[in-house]
Amino acid sequence: MKQGILSQILDYSNRANPYPLYEELRRTPVFHDGEGPYVVSTYHEIHGLLHDPRLSSDTRNRGAAAGDPLAGQEEGEQQLPPSFLKLDPPEHDRLRRMTNRPFGPPHSPRRIDGMRGELGSIVKGLIDGLADGRSRSGEGDGNGIDLVDQFSYPFPVTVICRLLGVPREDEARFHVWADTLAASLDPDPDADAEQREKATSSARMELGMYLAGLIEERRKNPGDDMLSQLAAGHGQGETMSTMELLSTAALLLIAGHETTVNLITNGMLTLLRHPDVLERLRREPQLAVPLVEELLRYEPPVQLLPQRTPLCDIEVCGVTIPKGAPMWLVLAAGNRDPKRFENPDRFDPDRRDIQHLGLGSGIHSCFGAPLARLEAQLALSELARRLHNPRLLEDPPPYRQNAVLRGPRHLVVACDDIRP
Ligand code: HEM
Repeated sequence: MKQGILSQILDYSNRANPYPLYEELRRTPVFHDGEGPYVVSTYHEIHGLLHDPRLSSDTRNRGAAAGDPLAGQEEGEQQLPPSFLKLDPPEHDRLRRMTNRPFGPPHSPRRIDGMRGELGSIVKGLIDGLADGRSRSGEGDGNGIDLVDQFSYPFPVTVICRLLGVPREDEARFHVWADTLAASLDPDPDADAEQREKATSSARMELGMYLAGLIEERRKNPGDDMLSQLAAGHGQGETMSTMELLSTAALLLIAGHETTVNLITNGMLTLLRHPDVLERLRREPQLAVPLVEELLRYEPPVQLLPQRTPLCDIEVCGVTIPKGAPMWLVLAAGNRDPKRFENPDRFDPDRRDIQHLGLGSGIHSCFGAPLARLEAQLALSELARRLHNPRLLEDPPPYRQNAVLRGPRHLVVACDDIRP
């Protein structure tokens, strides 16, 4: 009956609205069509599995990935050792703990909140840029602004540069590498694969060399940034090797912007489709806090986790998932499970019960969550305040190819004016 549903989910023509497919998928909480991955799509099962120590995130524990339609579409980090996203305890815990020292409580409780002013001025600068672009080209109503290229993409890349301590004068070079690596996560069937592989691997190498140089420099002249603090080997007797440090920096870079761009863009798209909520956000900027949580439930930027595998045979909902089998945990389907959320297809920022799966759960739950939340809250409340009478020029907008990190490639919006 469900033969082909996974290919339908991966099929680009369903990218704008995969939710009816997820609804169908949930009718079989553990779906397996004989040779592909075991696909789990209901909330309670996904939540339980994310907390289950019998599941591994280390792809080296996976048997032959035969039949996994996502095999080969992994993040571009192959030349570095696996980052802690793809490690199990105890290595995962050691690296995550060390990375957290310069990032969050208890050692650095003010790191993210302390960036609030800086994030606000980056947002302001980008929106001022939209206004300048309009007046330079004499654009008025009817001519669109692409919010992806001109806002939601540059914002998180600039933020991650500041966080890691990439000097401002190098940001432009860094943006090019980040763009190239991001494009490698966005498999486009029309692109020249060989050409792109070359570009990706040279970007990875240049970025690796650049980060290695920066780390060396920060060891000699430490600043207040995360790389300096990681390089200084903060930690009670624990140290990170240079290779571990490089793969951690690359993880933060990639995880830190390819997702946030989609949260901000999905957010604007959802608000433009719900003008009453947009208007409310304009009047009540503090609505951004619950609104971003509802967005992470309703339109999660990470739709599914494709790299778990059981360390022994496990049983879920009466189905035995064999050791080493590829598994997908479809967060976006769990987030709309009617057994967990009332009226799940309704976007409702006033929802009180909102323990979504959008940032994962358990030991691998999103490391950057406080930053991602703050970036999205500031971005959406400022866009709502400053864009006067914004309108979508194309609905649905064109999407990125990627089914896992799902979001619009462009979001072209017209507005009457951009307020100061
Ligand atoms: C809206 C933006 C974001 C979303 C939706 C998101 C989502 C996620 C999800 C679902 C996971 C769990 C992966 C798993 O269980 O396998 C995760 C892990 C992670 N995220 Fe995020 N993320 C976002 C932003 C960020 C940012 C800004 C950073 C960095 C500053 C970041 C760094 C990480 C890291 C390092 C991990 C791995 C955690 C671990 O394995 O322990 N993320 N993220």
